[in-house]
Amino acid sequence: MDEKDLKKETRAVHAGRMSREHFGVVNTPVYRASTILYRDLATLEAGKVPYIYGRRGTPSSRSLEEAITALEGGARTVVCSSGLNAIALAILSVCGAGDHVLMVDSCYAPTRFTCDRTFSRYGIQTTYYDPCIGAGIETLLRPNTKAVFCESPGSLTFEIQDVPAIASVAHAHGASVLIDNTWATPLYFDAFAHGADLSIQAATKYIGGHADVMIGYVCANDSHAARVAQTHDHLGIYASGDDCFLALRGLRTLPIRLKRHGENALALARWLQQRPEVARVLYPALADDPGHALWERDFTGATGLLGVELKPIPQKALASFFDSLELFGMGYSWGGYESLIVPSKLHRTASKFDAAGPLIRIHAGLEAVEDLQADLAQGFDAIGNAT
Ligand SMILES: Cc1ncc(COP(=O)(O)O)c(C=O)c1O
Repeated sequence: MDEKDLKKETRAVHAGRMSREHFGVVNTPVYRASTILYRDLATLEAGKVPYIYGRRGTPSSRSLEEAITALEGGARTVVCSSGLNAIALAILSVCGAGDHVLMVDSCYAPTRFTCDRTFSRYGIQTTYYDPCIGAGIETLLRPNTKAVFCESPGSLTFEIQDVPAIASVAHAHGASVLIDNTWATPLYFDAFAHGADLSIQAATKYIGGHADVMIGYVCANDSHAARVAQTHDHLGIYASGDDCFLALRGLRTLPIRLKRHGENALALARWLQQRPEVARVLYPALADDPGHALWERDFTGATGLLGVELKPIPQKALASFFDSLELFGMGYSWGGYESLIVPSKLHRTASKFDAAGPLIRIHAGLEAVEDLQADLAQGFDAIGNAT
C-alpha cells in the first residue's frame, strides 16, 4: 500500500517503524551514540553509510523523522532539542542578515523574544502583524521579507488565521511561509495543503503527550528541505535517542488522545460559557467563536487548549480560584495527559486584545470531564468566598 493513501491515524501507527532492522522488535530501540565505528578505511573514506556520527542521526532519530514526514506529508523532517529550538531553526533556514520577518502578533511569547532580542543582533528584523489580517498582509511585505510566520490559533488568544490567503500573497512576493502548528498538530491542520513551506511542532506538547520530554521538529516541503537539513547540521542541532523514543511512543497514540482532549475541551468550553464568573471563552470549535468559520473550513478537529476571560475580580479572589483547584495543575506547559491552568500574560504590539477581567489558559487533560467541571466549580465558589 502507498503510505500517502493511508489515513493519518494509520500513518501514526505504522510510519517510521524499522522492526526488520531490529530483530522484529516493534519499537525502534533507544540508540545512545556519539561514535559510530566503520568497518574499514574504504568504507570510512567513501562515507556511504547510513549513520556517520551520533549528532548527525541514529535509527532513533531517523525513525521519528520518517514517521513525522509521513504524517505531515512533507519532504524532510529534522528533530530539534525543543519546540523553541525548532522555531529558531526554521527562521534561520530562510533568513540571514538584512532580511525581514513578518511575525504574527499572537505568537508564543518566547518566539517574540528570540526575534526581538537575539535575531535583531544578527541583522534580522521582525515586524508584527494582526493575526486576523488575512490577505491584507500584502501591505506589510517588503522586498527583503523572507519569512511570514503564522501560529494558528494564536497562543493565549486563539485567533484562527487565514493561512491560505496569507500564503498566496507571501509566495507571490517570494517569501516563505512558516507555521507553528503545535495546537492542531499535523492531524488536525494540514500545514502543507494550506500553503506552508515549513511546519513546526513543539513535540514537547501533544506528540510527547506525557509531560516528560522536551523535543521539537521542522518538517519542510521539497523546495525547503535541503536548506533546512543543512542549517540543522551546521548548527549542530540534536535530540537524544531517549527523547526521540519518547516522542515516537507518544506519536503512536496521538490520534486517540487528541480526540479525547478535544471532546473534554469542548465540553468544558460550553460549560464555562454558562458560568456567571466567565466573560468569554476563546475556543475556535465553539459555534460563536470569531474564528469558527475559518476553523471549520481548514481544520479537521480541535485539541485541548483554550482561553477564558473571567469577569473582573480582585487579585485576591483570582488567587483563591487558582489555589483551590485540585485536579488542574498550575504549570507552563500543555499537551500532556493532565489538566493544567495558568494566568495568561499578553505581549502584543501590533494589534489590540481587550479583556476587562483576567485572562487564563486551560488545558483539558484526559480525566473525566465531570470531575474537571466539579474542580472548576469549587474554584468559582472560592472566588465568591473571597469577595
Ligand atoms: C505554541 C508553542 N510553540 C512553541 C513552544 C515551545 O516549545 P518548547 O517548550 O518545546 O520549546 C510552546 C511551548 O509552550 C508553545 O506553546
